[in-house]
Amino acid sequence: MYRHSRAWLLLSLLWIATVHTQLITQTSVDLNAGKIKSAVFKSPAFTLGHGQVQDKFYYGIDFPKGHIALKGFDAEVVDENGNSIPLSETYLHHWVVDRFYHKTSLTEEQTKPITKRLHSSDFILAGNDGICQPHALGQYFGLGSETRHTNTFIPDPYGIVVGDPNKIPEGYEESWLLNVHAIDTRGVVDSLGCTECKCKLYNVTEDQYHRPLRENYIGGLHCCYDETQCQLKEGVQGQKRTLYLKYTVHWMDWEESIVPVRVYILDVTDTGERSVDQSSSYSPIGCQVEYNVPQCTAGIHSSGEGIDIREAHMVIPQGGDVIYSVAHQHTGGDGITLYGQDGREICTSLPRYGKGREPGNETGYIVGMSSCYPEPGSVQIHGGETLKLQSKYNKERGHTGVMGLFYLLIADPIHSSALYSHQPEQGSSPHVSRFLPAGLLIVFALIAGLGFVYFIKKGKEDDYENLMA
Ligand SMILES: *[C@@H]1O[C@H](CO)[C@@H](O)[C@H](O)[C@H]1NC(C)=O
Ligand SMILES: *[C@@H]1O[C@H](CO)[C@@H](O)[C@H](O)[C@H]1NC(C)=O
Repeated sequence: MYRHSRAWLLLSLLWIATVHTQLITQTSVDLNAGKIKSAVFKSPAFTLGHGQVQDKFYYGIDFPKGHIALKGFDAEVVDENGNSIPLSETYLHHWVVDRFYHKTSLTEEQTKPITKRLHSSDFILAGNDGICQPHALGQYFGLGSETRHTNTFIPDPYGIVVGDPNKIPEGYEESWLLNVHAIDTRGVVDSLGCTECKCKLYNVTEDQYHRPLRENYIGGLHCCYDETQCQLKEGVQGQKRTLYLKYTVHWMDWEESIVPVRVYILDVTDTGERSVDQSSSYSPIGCQVEYNVPQCTAGIHSSGEGIDIREAHMVIPQGGDVIYSVAHQHTGGDGITLYGQDGREICTSLPRYGKGREPGNETGYIVGMSSCYPEPGSVQIHGGETLKLQSKYNKERGHTGVMGLFYLLIADPIHSSALYSHQPEQGSSPHVSRFLPAGLLIVFALIAGLGFVYFIKKGKEDDYENLMA
């Protein structure tokens, strides 16, 4: 679909072969590896100069077609030669992949990179299973800085089933959109501040829709939108460079033996409210996506004091077996735990911080999140159960625009009676190795790549969608 994909296709073929082999050897939980297909694509090019931000939407991206089950999704930022770019140069705030239906073939105009989400009556966002307010956090895949070392592979016999001709509305086609938000931090005065979208570093007083910033809004996505500029050190000048998001999709053709998973995204900022208050232009309802962590000013005397704990309760409409889960946090994150109504721990997902310089190991950045793979049937959530989500951040320094998101994949029990009596086995720990090398892994991601709130203007100033694209 994109012009440059040809050379990549060639590269991809090589890569696919490698991935296949590695997949089979790396992923022992996978009984069906031979049927898994993979393809590597790259996004349209984007250019970044020192301190610049790109936050674009690409509609109608290359994506596997037909009735399929998605098994994983990886991504990373690369340059024109395919070299991995470290987060210390280009911070990947997030990439997010959404599904949508559209009436007619997308025009060339519609597939051009745009700063804001496309809106048209011919266009229906086909979101995940919830549970935020409509249009918020509806993506299927999405990660940020942690993308290189986050395992999001969906084990057999499960998959995210898409492209089902019976589910696509009559007269519509299914397509995918990609949103990439990247911040170039070369030469900036405050690298963490730029990645945390501190408003004063961006010298902005209005958000991307030319609305004045909310009072006391000191940092977050409304200050680091497309084509903003973070403050540079005196005298810094540098060349722009061309970058891409390289993404790899792993899938299987649909067959009866595949068990579909439901994709839920939980947000620790969720207020639980679901109706839009029309009188408030900012409608602080439901999932806020971002929050701030105040600095601990009193000094830290004992363990635990330097940790900010944020909690939210939410109800899962339709329960089942937990198949996979993973959290998404930003720098400073200290893990997220999901608890059941009875207090049982469902999953704890912990960040891994880089310790070096090379891509995938950048000091101070979250370069991976651990994911949970309970033996199917061993961890269940009941429909209507109230869960507690707890997100921890280190507050030795304050943070703006952080996130506490949690991706939860749930499936209907396969053979209820058999599974309920089935205990996790000895060696096959429910937790697949926490941090497998990213290149080897299939990341199906869903994460929230750091950040993704999109307030989309729908005609009226006060009618926004809070999208984590
Ligand atoms: C900040 O923005 C104002 C206008 O919005 C502009 O006049 C000023 O030069 C900017 N400052 C910097 C350092 O870019
Ligand atoms: C990250 O870099 C540090 C410092 O160079 C090194 O000791 C460590 O082994 C690296 N980690 C990985 C996973 O490569």
